[in-house]
Amino acid sequence: MCGIAAYIGQKEAAPIVLEAIKKLEYRGYDSCGIVTLNDSLTCKKGTGKIEDVDKQVNFLSLRGNVGMGHTRWATHGEPSDRNAHPHFSCDNNIAIVHNGIIENSEELKTILVKSGHNFRSETDTEVVVHLIEELINEGNSMEEAFVKTLKLIEGAFAIVAMNKNEPNKLYAVKQSSPLVLGIGENEIFIASDVLPIQPYTNKVVYLQDEDFVVITKDNYEIKNLSKIKVNREVTILNENLEEISKGNFEHFMLKEIYEQPETIKRAFRGRIDKDNAKFGGLNISNEQLKKIKRIVLTGCGTSWHACLVGGSYFQEISKIAAQVEYASEFRYKNPVLGEDDLLIVLSQSGETADSIAAIQEAKSKNVKTIGLVNVVGSSIARMVDGGIYLHAGHEIGVASTKTFTSHLTALYLLSIYLGRINGNLSKEKAKEMLNDLEKLPEKINEVFSSVDEIKKIASKYFKSKNALYLGRHYNFPVALEGALKLKEISYIHAEGYPAAEMKHGPIALIDENMPVIVIAPEDRLYSKVMSNIQEVKSRKGKVIVVTTDATKNGFDEVILIPKVSEFLMPIISVIPVQLLAYYIAKERGCDIDKPRNLAKSVTVE
Ligand code: M6R
Repeated sequence: MCGIAAYIGQKEAAPIVLEAIKKLEYRGYDSCGIVTLNDSLTCKKGTGKIEDVDKQVNFLSLRGNVGMGHTRWATHGEPSDRNAHPHFSCDNNIAIVHNGIIENSEELKTILVKSGHNFRSETDTEVVVHLIEELINEGNSMEEAFVKTLKLIEGAFAIVAMNKNEPNKLYAVKQSSPLVLGIGENEIFIASDVLPIQPYTNKVVYLQDEDFVVITKDNYEIKNLSKIKVNREVTILNENLEEISKGNFEHFMLKEIYEQPETIKRAFRGRIDKDNAKFGGLNISNEQLKKIKRIVLTGCGTSWHACLVGGSYFQEISKIAAQVEYASEFRYKNPVLGEDDLLIVLSQSGETADSIAAIQEAKSKNVKTIGLVNVVGSSIARMVDGGIYLHAGHEIGVASTKTFTSHLTALYLLSIYLGRINGNLSKEKAKEMLNDLEKLPEKINEVFSSVDEIKKIASKYFKSKNALYLGRHYNFPVALEGALKLKEISYIHAEGYPAAEMKHGPIALIDENMPVIVIAPEDRLYSKVMSNIQEVKSRKGKVIVVTTDATKNGFDEVILIPKVSEFLMPIISVIPVQLLAYYIAKERGCDIDKPRNLAKSVTVE
């Protein structure tokens, strides 16, 4: 993972790079560092979040018009000052920052150590800078040495390098990890995504794999690794600059939970056409879509939970067979894929390495791909055949919330669309379903009226060591999502289960200390879920029910939610479990927006 950023121009580099890495902190916050060039390379770095490290080292004291920075999510080597990037050559003349993994670092290190190189960190990254140094010592120019190094290293990398002896240049390369150039007036920016670049310029170049760039303040030259010049399109960003602030909310996560009535609207706005859904960017003809016999949905984490709901939508609404796969497992199963299949990839960031690999797997088998992505211009958005943007705005909290409900909204619309074009969904039903969707944002506002109840429940159960989440059919993925939210931000062990599966094992865990959160709207499985609840009650479990049934009592706690159709229920029922996780984590004093060990964008396998 990790975020990298660099600047070359006429302004002081440190403030720009500092702001940039802060915007990339969602990619990791184990350590950070900045180097600038002003006669010599000067570096400051430290362990922990940028704000804290800055207080200790004062990044802004760094001088120079060229600089680069890094925010780390540790893979090789613990989070520590010595493992923090930038990393340096033995003579301190060359510095690099790296996002990705150098898979053959151990063998290269052995060779370099034998040649006398002194390693100062346990990172895989450091081999790169020593290799460049070694090759320069053998008589190569910086550019030649860097290109030769790239042919020796294996893995995923976006790297930026600077050399004290070439003070007016930055070098960058992209291979499997994202890297974007921002083209300004007499200044060029480099970053892992467009977010830090947007305040300065709307002209960006998305680098592609094997692009190697030599950058000066007013020029950049992109070559491939055979040193042949390549042209990459300059993209003009037209996305409105959205302010990234918590507003009156204490955390981004809470703000993002409360944004959901609006973000759901944004996911369906312009996509409803009387009795059908419509999309601008599917790029697959209706003729081709009609032939689809099976949809494979894939993603990771929360996006994978959304895939589970989507799979049921395609089966029940469009009557197309659907299969849901963890993106991290998919390619290793040698999946049988054919031309009647469609791969749908869900991702908030559009940068998740496993999801990218799943697309590559499908493409290698000539399977059409559709991406449901939030981040505009992200790697996934650019590699799929067609796509639906979520338009949820920046999601800063590491725990995904609003993009889960936006994903479900987009999937619901897509399943209506496919059902209409393959003739399995009537006009009347489609119209009714679309009307239901348009009313959904108001219903979400109703859920927020239960917040005091949720806070009360949180203050009662925040010391629990475990929790169980149960739900059936459309609410089973919500149970998984509730458990994931609780785990990642409050560090309480939690599991999600289909309610009826509980008696096949997890029931053994139930005693008077076990809170069991049951998602139980009054749908066709309601009476069955009620029986599952009785099974918990009989074993003295504490039952917290999320239900539409205002008459129910006899539970330990009830969170009331409004009635909506069965299809839309997971979009409603997930909100109380998001809020519950939030308030429990708050009671426990956890760092909600930046939970330990996590990163927002998982760009390594
Ligand atoms: O950006 P993506 O949607 O591809 O990310 C997938 C997962 O890493 C992500 O959903 C993760 O599980 C979240 N932290 C969950 O809150």
